[in-house]
Amino acid sequence: MYRLTEEGREYLKQGLPEKRLLQLLPQRIQEISLDKKEIAIAWAKKNGWIKLEQGLLSLTESGKNALKGKTDVEKALEDIAGCSDSKILDILIKRGIVEEIKEEREALLERIKSMKEITQLSPAIIKSGAWKNIPIRKYDVSLPAPQEYIGKKHLLRSAIETVKRVLLEMGFKEMEGPMVDAEFFVNDCLFMPQDHPARTQWGQFYLKNPKYIKALPNDLVKRVKASHEHGGSTGSTGWQYKWSESIAKQLVLRGHTTSLTARYLATHTKPPNRFFAVDKVFRKDTLDRTHLLEFYQIEGWVMDYGLSIRDLMGTFKEFYRRLGIEKIKFKPTFNPYTEPSFEIYGLMGKRWLEIGNSGMFREEMLEPYGIKADVMAWGLALERTLMLLQGFDDIRNVHGTLCDLDFLRETPLLWRY
Ligand code: PHE
Repeated sequence: MYRLTEEGREYLKQGLPEKRLLQLLPQRIQEISLDKKEIAIAWAKKNGWIKLEQGLLSLTESGKNALKGKTDVEKALEDIAGCSDSKILDILIKRGIVEEIKEEREALLERIKSMKEITQLSPAIIKSGAWKNIPIRKYDVSLPAPQEYIGKKHLLRSAIETVKRVLLEMGFKEMEGPMVDAEFFVNDCLFMPQDHPARTQWGQFYLKNPKYIKALPNDLVKRVKASHEHGGSTGSTGWQYKWSESIAKQLVLRGHTTSLTARYLATHTKPPNRFFAVDKVFRKDTLDRTHLLEFYQIEGWVMDYGLSIRDLMGTFKEFYRRLGIEKIKFKPTFNPYTEPSFEIYGLMGKRWLEIGNSGMFREEMLEPYGIKADVMAWGLALERTLMLLQGFDDIRNVHGTLCDLDFLRETPLLWRY
């Protein structure tokens, strides 16, 4: 509690000396007559209200403003009991305008002695020795307290690492490669015809600069061209059109990580092989609960003799089981580069959500590489897998600037990390 001193009460009546000074300006400094002149000048100067030029004291801009209205100090003087600004109180106490109302020592000691329990230690309680006789309230650690959020790994990162770990444990090696790649590896190597609707400005993001990759592997280009135009030596008729190398050279943000598979197949033509990638892809989709324009794909492939889609289904059963997802379903589908092909669905509440696409690579795709063995391959949706595991129904919760911070804070990370 605070109250005005006698000086304070006088200032309240007459105005602060520095304020009264302002009303007299401009004036030559020697000619100013004002009681407490020294103090007035000192405070007005400190507040930046006045300037002195060749003996003439005049108002600054902020001095003019101060003259118009009430300063914080004046407001505090008018209502000292209601003032809680410790900085201003400090100044007023130092100036001797305000004083703290102190309880008489005796009364304070009386009050301490009559306490049944000490809830908060104070210097007076310690000094008086009262703490020796009066019980101090114990901390109750079971009481609710504000939640503290410490730094933690991002949920998505933990999912990426968990999936990588699972695939490494299943004997796969990791592929690495560029996010920006030539259409050749993104599309042409996958036997995707150059007029396929996914290969348009509506389906993928093109690079403006540079527009083209510098070079493509000549031999593979020749054989991919043959496969597209007439099926090469596979017995297929191919797509029956004129294949363009300049289209194949165009750079895009990869729409799937199967571009990595296309690159790795060129140098891994003999079985057995098992590779994976968990990496970013970009698509011109419309953003909604289950679609992002930029997301992670779990890519993978196995090369061996005598593989069939039974092996593929078994691999998914095992992979998802290791992640903790037991209920999956398969549905036949079409891809230009696989036959047979099927989609994988996971149970999200009561609805089945597509979580992947897969199949056995076609001869038209493998023949240009000179691969004689079977290759089964897939691209799975990482964020959607995470949705199944954590039971949230909006994919935007975990990505980029749209993510839900509270959700990320409160959701436990996956079991591996
Ligand atoms: N590239 C496909 C996709 O993005 C996934 C896939 C990869 C399908 C390999 C079959 C074989 O949906």
